[in-house]
Amino acid sequence: MRNTYYITTPIYYPSGQAHLGHSYSTVAADVMARYKRMQGFDVMFLTGTDEHGQKIELNAQKEGLAPKDYIDPIVDNFKRLWKLLGISYDKFIRTTDDYHKKAVQKIFDDLYKKGEIYKGKYSGWYCTPCESFFTDVQAKDGKCPDCGREVKKEEEESYFFKLSKYSEKLLKLYEENPNFIQPESRKNEMIKFIEDGLDDLCVSRTSFKWGIPVNFDKDHVVYVWLDALTNYITAQGYGSEDDSDYKKYWPADVHFVGKEIVRFHAVIWPAILMALDLPLPKRIFGHGWLLFGDGGKMSKSKGNVIDPNILCKRYGVDSIRYFLMREIPFGSDGTFTNESLINRINFDLANDLGNLLSRSVAMIEKYFDGCILENSEFSNIDNDLINMAKSLQSEYQKHMDNFHFSAALDKIWLLVSKSNKYIDENMPWKLAKEEESKSRLSTVLYNLCECLRIISILLFPFMPDSSKKIQHQLGAKEDICKWESSSKWGMLPLGFKVKKEELLFPRIDVDKEIEELNKIIENKDENNNDNIVKLIDIEDFCKVDLKVVKIENCEHIKKSKKLLKLTVNDGKNTRTIASGISNYYSPEQLIGRHVVIVSNLKPVKLCGVESHGMILAADCSEDDVKVIFVDEIPVGSKIR
Ligand code: MSP
Repeated sequence: MRNTYYITTPIYYPSGQAHLGHSYSTVAADVMARYKRMQGFDVMFLTGTDEHGQKIELNAQKEGLAPKDYIDPIVDNFKRLWKLLGISYDKFIRTTDDYHKKAVQKIFDDLYKKGEIYKGKYSGWYCTPCESFFTDVQAKDGKCPDCGREVKKEEEESYFFKLSKYSEKLLKLYEENPNFIQPESRKNEMIKFIEDGLDDLCVSRTSFKWGIPVNFDKDHVVYVWLDALTNYITAQGYGSEDDSDYKKYWPADVHFVGKEIVRFHAVIWPAILMALDLPLPKRIFGHGWLLFGDGGKMSKSKGNVIDPNILCKRYGVDSIRYFLMREIPFGSDGTFTNESLINRINFDLANDLGNLLSRSVAMIEKYFDGCILENSEFSNIDNDLINMAKSLQSEYQKHMDNFHFSAALDKIWLLVSKSNKYIDENMPWKLAKEEESKSRLSTVLYNLCECLRIISILLFPFMPDSSKKIQHQLGAKEDICKWESSSKWGMLPLGFKVKKEELLFPRIDVDKEIEELNKIIENKDENNNDNIVKLIDIEDFCKVDLKVVKIENCEHIKKSKKLLKLTVNDGKNTRTIASGISNYYSPEQLIGRHVVIVSNLKPVKLCGVESHGMILAADCSEDDVKVIFVDEIPVGSKIR
């Protein structure tokens, strides 16, 4: 039996910072990957960045940077955000990776040798933000039919892929595999697109340089979409020496993509694979867009804070993951507002789930010292609850297997609500008053813990941290918190010990929170910056004494792996500074250089060395630090 599961996200353009829209596809793919792993599949979850093309070249030029220098920090930010959001990808591909570039060149050569690519002249319209070609008819009024921005007339010598000859084969593919494109509405769009007539596709460019050169014609770079689509196979080693992962995982079980790029994945990508005689992916799922609304007519908010870093910090990662997957059915568009997010947190998470957990655990602590020793006094009214809990797994699975994440969560919440109702119906506080009801009370509380155990297992793909926290509070061991045990009742062994911990989802005061968010929004407008920067007064800045010094001597500090001991001179005095840059520089690279120091820092002792100041350096990426050298500036100069 094939027990692998290969899932991909689109690879993102690092032409701007990672945002909540990107997080949407990535969180969804992560949920699916965790779900399949939980079921015992050998999962390959791929994501990455799509780094070539005209748009990136232009953006880099505007910043006065080489394209790679422009994208590196942005790619690091994508990775940082994925880490924050708990994205459990197995591989991250960058299309500037060497192995990918070589494999793309090989694919282009192969297609050419097979007669699938020919040389010609392109004349038509190009949308740079979408990196997409359009005919006169498609680009009516000089506007891109996808994004509405202006298109440019392009005329250049190009190679063409014989896409038009695949029309019939593609239509047959959709007919024979009704699930190949989902949801259904996207499939109908693709059928219409093909029936309107496919042109051959321009697959090389000569008017700019930032791309993978065509091996046999170096004036041409490979069209960015051909380069990008092949990532799904090159990342697994196709076209490289070690292609074992390709053999193991390809074809992909599903490509998750936004609705506007279904066309590339459902038309161009299978046609390329057909031309290469390679197996086709099993499914393309085109999800909808997260729209960023104005907060609604009655809203008190002055816009929306949509920076995922800020949202995770304020509300917790799991709440954001939950919201993204619950609020909008995966194939449809939906609006994000801070108010809808806060409401979901307050109602679903704090009131329903959080309360169920804290009430249940608190009552066991209060009435039984945290430990349930009996569960034998069942009543008929338990059957409904128990049956619902036992059948939840199969209902949930039906939805998850069809990527109906929101519906799967709905099912879980039916059990959450039922459990809360069960508390109200059984009134444990009343049972606690009568000694002879203690046995019934114990059974009622046991049943609640079993429901919570099952809920926590099925919630794991969506809210991994909270799921573990629930299990911890329940004192439920790992072996009864596996997928298999989510359809079984009575797994908690008598004598299990619960432990009340801090509230999983504290309730948010809506008015106060909107006020806080409005302050952030106002600040943001002033700064015109995606990240919130705390403003300081000029007086604060003037307190910092920045000076140019020359490094006269430098040596490693024996007791430390990171620190270098520097002797610097500002033209008048010499001082010692300990700086954590030894992983990035050797003493020889520093001696004689001019650098900037903060000269009025209070002295501190670091690994036995008294340090008088700090050297300015830039955190270029997670593992790259660059000292700011100012060799042309005279020693002693003050920086203001
Ligand atoms: N680089 C191409 C994809 C190549 S895949 C071989 C690309 N990149 S993108 O960065 O522009 O978009 C990547 C994905 O992010 C797309 O699927 C797009 O739909 C998704 N999203 C970007 N903004 C979004 C929302 N606001 N909401 C949901 N998804 C959105 O296209």
